[in-house]
Amino acid sequence: MKTKFGLTEQNYRYLFENASDAMWVHDMEGNIIDANKADEIISGYSRDELIGMNATQFLTDESRALAREVRRKLLSGEELEQPYEQRLVRKDGTIRIVNIATSPFIIDGEVRGFLHVARDVTEERRLQENMRFYVQQITRAQEDERKRIARELHDDVAPSLLIVIQHLNAIISGTRSKLPGLLKDNLGDLRVETIEALENLHRYAQDLRPRILDDLGLVPALEWMTEELAEQHKIDARTEVIGIEPTLSPEVQLLLFRIAQEALNNARRHAEASAAVVKLEFESDKIRMTISDNGKGFQLPNQAEELAGTGKLGIIGMHERARLAGGRLDIQSELGKGTQVIAEIPFPE
Ligand SMILES: Nc1ncnc2c1ncn2[C@@H]1O[C@H](COP(=O)(O)OP(=O)(O)OP(=O)(O)O)[C@@H](O)[C@H]1O
Ligand SMILES: [Mg+2]
Repeated sequence: MKTKFGLTEQNYRYLFENASDAMWVHDMEGNIIDANKADEIISGYSRDELIGMNATQFLTDESRALAREVRRKLLSGEELEQPYEQRLVRKDGTIRIVNIATSPFIIDGEVRGFLHVARDVTEERRLQENMRFYVQQITRAQEDERKRIARELHDDVAPSLLIVIQHLNAIISGTRSKLPGLLKDNLGDLRVETIEALENLHRYAQDLRPRILDDLGLVPALEWMTEELAEQHKIDARTEVIGIEPTLSPEVQLLLFRIAQEALNNARRHAEASAAVVKLEFESDKIRMTISDNGKGFQLPNQAEELAGTGKLGIIGMHERARLAGGRLDIQSELGKGTQVIAEIPFPE
């Protein structure tokens, strides 16, 4: 039989045989009628072995349930998202993860079986998981390091500066000191400089690891951060809380705080925003934190991972932190209409 483009059945046979995606066809009972070379590679069986085998043999208990669901949807005409992810057991017992598309095959108006096209994505998934694990480890290490540096600044450097200030105070205002005027002025300037250095140091330490978060918790820490933004950068920023805050682990509080910190940093650095809001909604089964700005918005990359190659790690870090907290993150942005970063964490964690 020839199609209108003149492709013969032999041409189609060639395409089927040599496609790099695995393809197989089975009847209503699951008995395999045909399979191509790529399917030999994915399944580990030869074509001769495959033909006549039952397709359920490739399925784990879990994937069997999914296969039944796919079949039900296809037969009832219910919508099915394709391709879907499935796990297949190979001849050697190992499991491959495939992206698979399935369609019923119909002869004379009757469904006689199913066609499958599958691509092996096992390595891709493994790489993604390794990458995720790696990013999580780095995120944890970074937090430990920040905590250590903040503690040293607070506990070692700050007290030393404070002693210097107290000594300068004593020298300058000491009743017995008969310092020449110029020296007294110089010491006064030195005192002002040292006080400024101490204030800056407190700010750096707070950014690294806000004590207010450890001491008073998430809401006061977010309020402090939005107040700072308003004071230092003239952005009308505030924190809004809806519902009653449940007891959250220090880890989840820190993760949420870091997400808000990065989103507000982005709003300040990139958005040219004049206003920003951190909204925390405590519901019975989840926490939703939304950080919105009224800035210029931006075009989101298809995959957050695309940003890694450009050295931009803020958005990736937010996604990873939401995942570390057991939840997920979504960013909505439209040019000229501002940006919203939404983190949802199920509760109890
Ligand atoms: N709120 C925002 N408004 C406008 N553009 C934004 C906003 N947030 C992010 N962007 C855009 O997305 C890019 C990626 O953001 P991301 O936070 O990942 O990286 P970065 O801020 O450039 O660098 P890093 O966070 O690693 O210091 C930014 O460079 C900016 O162009
Ligand atoms: Mg950033």
